[in-house]
Amino acid sequence: MIQRPIPITYQHRVAFTHGAFDSKNHTVCDLIAESSGLEGAAKVLVLIDSGVAEGNPRLLDTISTYCDIHSDVIQLVAPPMAMEGGENCKNDWSLVEKIWKAVEFHKICRHSYIIAIGGGAFIDLAGFAAATAHRGIRFVRMPTTTLSQGDGGVGVKNGVNYFGKKNWIGTFSVPFAIVNDLEFLKSLPPRACRDGIIEAIKVALIRDSDFYAFLKENAEKLGRLETKSLEVAIRRSAENHIDHISTSGDPFEYGSARPLDFGHWVAHKLEQISDFEVSHGEAVAIGMAIDILYSVEIGLLDSETAEEILALIRTVGFDLWSEYLDQSVGGKPVILAGLEEFREHLGGKLTITLVPGIGRKIEVNEMDENAIIRAMEKLRADQFAECPEVSVG
Ligand SMILES: NC(=O)c1ccc[n+]([C@@H]2O[C@H](COP(=O)([O-])OP(=O)(O)OC[C@H]3O[C@@H](n4cnc5c(N)ncnc54)[C@H](O)[C@@H]3O)[C@@H](O)[C@H]2O)c1
Ligand SMILES: [Zn+2]
Repeated sequence: MIQRPIPITYQHRVAFTHGAFDSKNHTVCDLIAESSGLEGAAKVLVLIDSGVAEGNPRLLDTISTYCDIHSDVIQLVAPPMAMEGGENCKNDWSLVEKIWKAVEFHKICRHSYIIAIGGGAFIDLAGFAAATAHRGIRFVRMPTTTLSQGDGGVGVKNGVNYFGKKNWIGTFSVPFAIVNDLEFLKSLPPRACRDGIIEAIKVALIRDSDFYAFLKENAEKLGRLETKSLEVAIRRSAENHIDHISTSGDPFEYGSARPLDFGHWVAHKLEQISDFEVSHGEAVAIGMAIDILYSVEIGLLDSETAEEILALIRTVGFDLWSEYLDQSVGGKPVILAGLEEFREHLGGKLTITLVPGIGRKIEVNEMDENAIIRAMEKLRADQFAECPEVSVG
């Protein structure tokens, strides 16, 4: 056997800015100028999530003007292309082909750039098309939701849904750069805006007790979605996610452990059984609550700390119960099937992250179903203790 290592180091760059396409903002053009290595301007194709374009009606013109002003660096090959965003775009293979066709038509090459502006779903679609055209075109992500700016959009994966399964096709591909323009959060509906806060709490719980203290101190402001604390929360959430990806030793997920998926085995199942009526953030809030109370049940976490965490999650505005948790089959809660589905999704053996204390994590390879059920019962009881029903008459 001939065997050689292929050492390779990636730079995972995430810039934070406000108003990336204001004429005086140099974030995007500096990123391209510093690394294009070209004599003249680099070709750039801009793709936009139509939901973002609708929420920011002047955006397409602003981008065109920006590229005109910086034409020494950026050669915009066509007016920005608005395309459907949201989960549906990942179910529509014709959109992948539409992006490939634009790449082919405009002779976009590996020294050119695709900039994608949108929610996590749109970034996943565009990232997949960019990673596969010519085996990889430089890809600049501009995530526009709190979830994608603080979590999904700052990672190294892309993908679309296939065979009716989420993210069935996709690649691990470190983007050329990520630009988090916090101004985009202003056009988000409040419910979507709140969702990203839960991933900030998640990542603080598993790895950053100082960040947790910040979130606790600012919980009420976060609950009101106040801009300043929200921006700090998203920024530090992104930073923690990136630190994890770049230092965990497993950026391309060869192993079975996925600490960033704390609380997610319940969440994925809850989203699915509610037909996505429960949002991702809302589902993660409940998923973490169950795993936290489970940890108390098995003697891993003290109940005082658990109550404090649950209070924080409630204060930032999440419910810790959903009627969908009541669904059962064969006398068992349907949600329990989420454990095996989570294992299948990651491959390998079941690996669940639990939190034995603020800022710390451990992995376990089995969960006691009876203890999960007791944790759920506790959560249900808490919920109804908080909102006592008033009987009339
Ligand atoms: N690649 C990864 O590592 C990774 C990680 C986590 C999640 N994800 C993926 O991310 C997707 C979810 O992304 P999401 O939560 O960002 O939501 P989303 O992309 O589904 O967007 C939700 C809706 O918000 C709209 N929207 C986005 N930004 C807006 C803005 N600033 N103003 C107004 N409307 C806006 C979109 O058009 C869409 O209709 C899922 O498909 C999930 O699989 C990927
Ligand atoms: Zn998540």
